[in-house]
Amino acid sequence: MRQDDGRFIVFEGIDGAGTTTQSARFARYLRSERRVVHTTREPSDGPVGHLLRLALGGRVDLGPAHTMALLFAADRVDHVNQEIRPHLRDGSVVICDRYDLSSITYQTATAPPEERDSFESWVRDINRYAVRPDATVILHVDPEEAEKRRANRQGAPELFEETQLQKDLAALYRDAERLRPGDTFVHIDGNQTADEVEQAIREALAPIL
Ligand code: TYD
Repeated sequence: MRQDDGRFIVFEGIDGAGTTTQSARFARYLRSERRVVHTTREPSDGPVGHLLRLALGGRVDLGPAHTMALLFAADRVDHVNQEIRPHLRDGSVVICDRYDLSSITYQTATAPPEERDSFESWVRDINRYAVRPDATVILHVDPEEAEKRRANRQGAPELFEETQLQKDLAALYRDAERLRPGDTFVHIDGNQTADEVEQAIREALAPIL
């Protein structure tokens, strides 16, 4: 149990699912309702997060999935201590674009095939002390639709934006209850229009907030 007055809401999904758009829209809506909101993201804007963003952009090669898994977990410890916990203690609604479910899905899906099963529990273990969200919103978007959305973005594709991997990730996200037992998940059909998705998120989160 957390000892704070805040609310911690996480947005998750495959690349192009709309976590950045929808987390920003939800924050704007809550502010219009006079709630105190803090928005953040992972990889974080701290030093380890910065290194991870260089790797995602292909500017630093961190080698096998093990290194990335450890760095994502280290970034999370730093992010929770420096940013998330203090804002929760202040009573804010903290909205985070990706969190440890991204580590369990992405790092497991990119592990060497013969290590996949043990990797999943290892990644869960190294994230054992990550403060639990009040709800994790998962935006489920067909991998083909997400690929089209990514093609319309500026900039080069990032490290994990590959078709078969994204299909594996979509399947893992459907299995969230098994990957993170005990957490509260809100499953949203992200193939709808942005306005419809936003409305569905507001309705689903109302009882939690
Ligand atoms: P980002 O540019 O934030 O992607 P998006 O805006 O599409 O969410 O990059 C985040 C990438 O990092 C994304 O491909 C998922 C990956 N990731 C992990 O592999 N493990 C993690 O623990 C986290 C937080 C992100």
